[in-house]
Amino acid sequence: MPNNLVIVANRLPVDRVEQADGTPGWRLSPGGLVTAIEPVMRANDGVWLGWPGGTDQDLEPFEHDGMSLVPMSMSQTDIELFYEGFSNGTLWPLYHDLVAKPEFHREWWDAYVSVNRRFAEKAADNAAEGATVWVHDYQLQLVPQMLREIRPDLRIGFYLHIPFPPGELFQQLPWRRQLLEGLLGADLVGFQGHGAAGNFVRLVRQRVGHKTHKDLVYLPDGRTVRAAAFPISIDSQGFEDLATSEPVAARAKEIREALGSPTKVFLGIDRLDYTKGIYARLRAFSELIADGHLDVEDAVFVQVAVPSREQVEQYRILRDDIDRLVGRINGDLGRIGRPAISYLHSSYPREEMAALYRSADIMVVTPYRDGMNLVAKEYVACRTDNTGALVLSEFAGAAEELRQAWLVNPYDINGMKSALLEAYRAEPKETTRRMKAMRRTVTQNDVAAWADSFMTELADVRSSHGKAVRPAKRS
Ligand code: F6P
Repeated sequence: MPNNLVIVANRLPVDRVEQADGTPGWRLSPGGLVTAIEPVMRANDGVWLGWPGGTDQDLEPFEHDGMSLVPMSMSQTDIELFYEGFSNGTLWPLYHDLVAKPEFHREWWDAYVSVNRRFAEKAADNAAEGATVWVHDYQLQLVPQMLREIRPDLRIGFYLHIPFPPGELFQQLPWRRQLLEGLLGADLVGFQGHGAAGNFVRLVRQRVGHKTHKDLVYLPDGRTVRAAAFPISIDSQGFEDLATSEPVAARAKEIREALGSPTKVFLGIDRLDYTKGIYARLRAFSELIADGHLDVEDAVFVQVAVPSREQVEQYRILRDDIDRLVGRINGDLGRIGRPAISYLHSSYPREEMAALYRSADIMVVTPYRDGMNLVAKEYVACRTDNTGALVLSEFAGAAEELRQAWLVNPYDINGMKSALLEAYRAEPKETTRRMKAMRRTVTQNDVAAWADSFMTELADVRSSHGKAVRPAKRS
């Protein structure tokens, strides 16, 4: 059945699970995007199109928790060339300041084009006359233009969840013009920050030759495309409720006891990704112990590394590097029952994450480059008593909003050591002052406000002929 709203993302918002009776089923993925988009989908007969993971072919559309989902199948070759290859071996490092070296392979590009075409065709099949289609993220940057060619009646929005690089880096890409033109198929292109939106508009002017004025691009066919910043957020109230729940409070206490009730707990939670700066932060912490500024009797660093993209070589190398580093630090500096680093290579449900946030005195978020970094916001949302310190990289999008964090340059190990120590020694009055201000920011700008503002802006784009999407009714 055609729909008035089609969400197109690389992944569906559900994960495959084994049910109690042993049969396969689906569970809603943790994460704010679903929470934000679900109400808009319900209000507009929406459908969500994406990859359910794995290599199952020809899965039929299905309903989960009242949401209509259309699974897109991927072959093993699609996964290798489109997902692990062009998306995560070319675009991901290129868009994150070349923290790793991007690889350029023509067969990866060909797979990217054909998977994007498949997504565009499926979106076209599912969209009602004049519907709104919201395409997400770097894996699908060609979809807007491909879709517009098939269905000029649609109103198309695109949102990039990761950074958009400056021209000096982007121009390395052999297919730079095709990607820019792909995005220009949208009426509204949303980015995490103003810098990213500016990079895009400048590149369009220089590389494609279109006229631009501020955040507008004027196309020769008379269409106008707007490129603007919509900083994403989290389900702040959901995290706050979780953090104050009895089971989470009890679990937080248990975690601290299991760690040997140290004076202060440092915490890092990241996908195991080379952009996150995990290695540098652990080195900085270990040097504070080696220098005698911290003692393992008083301080421990809990690092959760969520397994990610494990078939991509750079991620395997990173895992080995971190394993070795943690082993060396604990071997050199730990005592019996007192490791310097408590390292967990695993993913956890939201409840456990909230308990970890509650149990930590100092949250350490030090990416070399990050579109936003929602972990920083989740920590703040969970500190309902206004305690706790956040050490945050200047290169995370979140740093534009969470100005009261201890901001650090993750390339500067000595600078990070000073910030970690300052946060460790800070007076409660100081941490409370900072946390109160950050909590105001995170509470006022939640993910529902983010989705509403994108949808409202998309409905206002002058050039489009589609029907406006009704905003979600929120309680
Ligand atoms: O931040 C970009 C992103 O693609 C998210 O959309 C996603 O949740 C995360 O990275 C994990 O990526 P993947 O889908 O490759 O596991």
